[in-house]
Formats: sequence, structure tokens, C-alpha cells
Amino acid sequence: MYYSDDIIDQIRTGCDIVSVLSRFISLKKKGSNYVCCCPFHNEKTPSFSVNPARQIYKCFGCGEGGSVITFLQKYENMTFPEAIEYLAPIAGVELPQRENTEESRQWANRKARLYEVNKEAANFYYRVLWSEKYGETGMRYLKKRELSDETIKHFGLGYAPTDGNAVIIYLRKKGFTDAEIIDSGLATFSERDGLNSKFWNRVMFPITDDKGKVLGFGGRVMGDGEPKYLNSPETDIFNKRKNLYGFQFAKSSRKSRFILCEGYMDVISLHQAGFTEAVASLGTAFTSEQARILQRYSPNVFLSYDSDTAGTKAAMRAIEILRQYKVTGRVINMKPYKDPDEFIKNLGAEEFEKRMENAEDALLFQVHTTEKNYNTKDYAEKTKFHHDIAKFLAQMEDPLERDNYLAAVSQEYGIDKEHLKEAVGKAALALADRQETEELRRTGPKKVGKDEKILQNEQFILTFLLDEPGLFAQIEPYLTVEDFSTELYKDVAARFFEDMKNNRTPDPAKIMSYYEDPDDQSRVCALFTAQIQDLSGKEEKEKAVAEILYKIKKNSFELREKNRGSSLEDIKQSLEEKQALEELKKIKIRL
Ligand code: UTP
Ligand code: MN
Repeated sequence: MYYSDDIIDQIRTGCDIVSVLSRFISLKKKGSNYVCCCPFHNEKTPSFSVNPARQIYKCFGCGEGGSVITFLQKYENMTFPEAIEYLAPIAGVELPQRENTEESRQWANRKARLYEVNKEAANFYYRVLWSEKYGETGMRYLKKRELSDETIKHFGLGYAPTDGNAVIIYLRKKGFTDAEIIDSGLATFSERDGLNSKFWNRVMFPITDDKGKVLGFGGRVMGDGEPKYLNSPETDIFNKRKNLYGFQFAKSSRKSRFILCEGYMDVISLHQAGFTEAVASLGTAFTSEQARILQRYSPNVFLSYDSDTAGTKAAMRAIEILRQYKVTGRVINMKPYKDPDEFIKNLGAEEFEKRMENAEDALLFQVHTTEKNYNTKDYAEKTKFHHDIAKFLAQMEDPLERDNYLAAVSQEYGIDKEHLKEAVGKAALALADRQETEELRRTGPKKVGKDEKILQNEQFILTFLLDEPGLFAQIEPYLTVEDFSTELYKDVAARFFEDMKNNRTPDPAKIMSYYEDPDDQSRVCALFTAQIQDLSGKEEKEKAVAEILYKIKKNSFELREKNRGSSLEDIKQSLEEKQALEELKKIKIRL
């Protein structure tokens, strides 16, 4: 870890989980906790709960849980040290210089070097573009595409010269090793030729993160040729799923809306025409990570996809993803032009703004697009189409909104309103079923197999002890750290018992912060947030604890048996343990 336990502790205790999480999600007070719909899975009723007393959160739907640090790691994709650095000013704690381990230093260094190579390469391509001698072809092309000098500079566009070697020579001169150049994706290596530059004779579009740091490039061929765009591969700094072209400018456009389009040139043309809220997904289908990024800035996204079949299909998919993140989608009609770039060039910004005002609501777009798949003169096909409409309507969560659409659609297609309503009800049930199945697949084994049962028992006992620390004295003689079944749980149990023995109340959030991996933190959290069924009577509770204690012991005994040798000593040990286990059956816990 970069920072000492002491510093991490100061920072963690200096921030309140509710106020930090409220920067990202809207929590509502409920009793002594705060709740909202889980930001980590799709749901309609809130199962996400924040416990300010323990400074932990837990979703009782999908099982996600952790501390304020875990949340930042999972929701904001921060690394552990990044989360600490984010929280430090909130806690009013001055951070010391990173206490670098060799490994973490190397990793940070490697990433820093990748950023550097990309930045220098961007510099190189930019300078070539503006050089009269080498950049003419590129510049001529960009001018033909009607980009102003200002736009070219704003987006840092460049040109990869015909001599592919030039960039490699340049980067070597700047002190980068061949390995670093290969890692950046700017060149590949072959036995015969050594380093081969990936890009040559292409105009270059630097792809940046939201802070403007160059992550990679898209390079467009001059004229016709295949592939039209060549893109940097994913690297340690470039994750295509998590970045949007143009987002660096769009996020601060202050327009309270985004325009989502397909291509680099679309984004650039739109920005040049004043639509600085335009972004594009990067040569791949729109992803849920990208939806999450947009959703944090605005609930309104206008889709400006190509008006061909592929574009329509992509838009249909994007609408579904946006809807999952509660983003309202609207679809801009660009006909008779292919994409926003062509539209703006032909009809101009004002006309585009008008098209935005008349953009079609996402649901109606889905309905109208689907209609084209059917021959509605055929009664059977017409019925199928109406059922499809019902499926779309079933996705609307807000009943008022759903009713409005229902009225509009039933009128447009002459469907009896009551009948459509009925079909929507059925479709909604089927949808809920499907979501549940999907949910299961995503969050893994909810199926309570043997191993899960054992883990659950271990979770139960620690959660129980946390609630009833007075019971520790009764349980301590029987339960040891070694009885826990995974390395992680043994480790946590050791810390937990250590606290208990010294009459300190174990602090779950603190224990979690010893683990850097956010998934480990979630697993640790599960040890302190087991759902203990409502055991009404005191006696019932006492019995349940005794029973679970026995089961944990029995499991650890059985595990030891498996690995036991056959020496006299082993047999004696086994018999003793067996007897103790029998005794344990009779144990009485007193609350
Ligand atoms: P398009 O083929 O629609 O290109 O691809 P475009 O944006 O209209 O490009 P121009 O106007 O002809 O220059 C849309 C986007 O898909 C990705 C690129 O991000 C492109 O901007 N793409 C396309 C690739 O990554 N590789 C390709 O070969 C083609
Ligand atoms: Mn185009």
C-alpha cells in the first residue's frame, strides 16, 4: 500500500460515508440508515442501505457492500490510493509523500510513461500536420472536410507521415525505449523489420480522457481505403469501454444534455458548429460504462447515429442501455443525410438545433423502428407487432409516463387501450422474470450450495458478535481463527478477535481498509452484514447461535480430518476433537 494504516485511518474517520456517497447518489433517510436504489445493479425498490454508525454500505439485493473507500473504487473506478487521495481533503488531512513500494512505484511509473509516449506522439503528429513540407496531404484532407484551423488545434489533430519510421525515431530521441513504444500500441515488433509504426499516411485523432490526457489515437485513411479508421489497441491506460471521444469538452459544455454520435468527425463537426455537448463511443458499440459516465452529468441524451440500418440498430441498443441508467434518450432525425457531419455541412447548425427540438422520443422511436419489421396488413404479424409495443411499454417504470405513452400509441395504431394495458401487464411480469434470471447470472451463485452455507454461517457468527459483543466470552473458548474456511476470513477473524479480547469494539470499515482489492472489501463487509432472520424470542436466538457455532466447528473438523495422517498422535488428536465436537452439541448460549 502507498499509505500507512495510520494515515488511512485518519482519513477514513475524518469523512462521513453519507455525505461522500451523496455526491454520487441520492440517499434518503430511513430510520437510522439511509437508502436508495442500488447504483451497482438494476432495481425498482431500494435495497441499498448506508449505515452511518458503522460507516458501511450494503445492498441486500446484489450483495455489494463496503466502506466509503470501497464505494469510490467500485463506483468511480478509483484505485485504493486514488480513493485515499480523493478523501484526504474532505477529511482535512494532509497527505505525506506516497510511501512507495517497489511494485506500486513500478506500476505508477509504467502508466506515467505510457501517458508520456502518447503525449509526445500527439505532439509529433501535430507538428508534422502543421509542417509545410511533411503535413500538406493531411492538412489538405482536413480542409476538404471543412475544419477550421481553430478546430484542428482545439482537437489536437495531427498527421502520421508516409514515412512510418519517423515517429519511432522521434520517440527514441525523446528517450523512450522500444518496449515502451510497443506497449503504447504505436508500433509493433517483427523479427525482420524490428519496430513497425502502426500509423502512416493517416490524419490522427488523439483520444483523450476527461482531463485531456492522450490515451491513444484514431487514424483515418486519406480518401478511400481499408480500414477507414485504424485505432490504438487497448493498453494499461486506454480502456475503450470507459471513454468517450469529445467528453473532455462535452462534460463542461454546460448544456445539460449530451449528443451521442458514432464517429470522430461527427463530434468534431458538431463542436465546430457550437454543439460542444457532442460525444462518440470509440469505434465500438455504446457501453454501460459510458452510460454511467453520461448519467452522472446529465439525464438527457440526444442520439445522433447514422441514419442507415446499422446506425438504427446501434441506436436501438444504446436506448436500452441508457434506459437502464435512467437516462432519457431522444433520437434526432438526420434524413436525408447520413450522419451529423454531413447534415451540418449541408443544412447548418440552426437546422440541426430544430431537428433536436423535434427529436423523437426513445420509446416512440423503438415502436416505429420495430413496425418496419412487420407487414401490418397481415393480421398475425400485426398482433406480433402489438405485443412488441407492449414489451417496450413494460420497460417504463413510471406508471404516469407509461399511461401517457399507452394512450398515444393505442391511438396511433388503433389498439384498444384496455387490451394493450393488459398485454403490457403480462409483458411486465415476463420482463421482471427475465431481469431476475439475468441478475442471478451477474451476481453469481445465490444458489446456496454447501460452500455458500458454510460462508454464511461464518458471516452470521461475526455479525452476531458485532451486535452482541457480550457473547464473546461464551463463544471464545470454542471458536478459533483457524475454524474460518477461507484465508481472507481467517485474517479478518484474527483482527476481529484481537479487538474483542482487548475490549475494543471492532470497526468493520477499519477492518475493510486493510484490504486493497475492492472485491475483498465487499467479501469482508459480508462478514458484518449477514442478514439475521428475525428470531423473535430470546431462546430462539440462543439456539440459533449454538447451532451455527456447532456447524462451523463441524466443518473445520471435517476439513482437518481429510488432511490428517494415520500416526498414533493423529488418531489421538482426532478422537479428542471428535469428543469436543460431541460436547459442543450440548452447549447452551445465554443472552
Ligand atoms: P463511419 O464509417 O460512420 O465513419 O464510422 P464516419 O465517422 O462517418 O467517418 P468519415 O466521416 O467517413 O470520416 C463511425 C466511427 O466508427 C469507427 C470510428 O470511430 C468512426 O468514427 N470506425 C469506423 C472504426 O473504428 N474503424 C473503421 O474502419 C470504421
Ligand atoms: Mn461521416
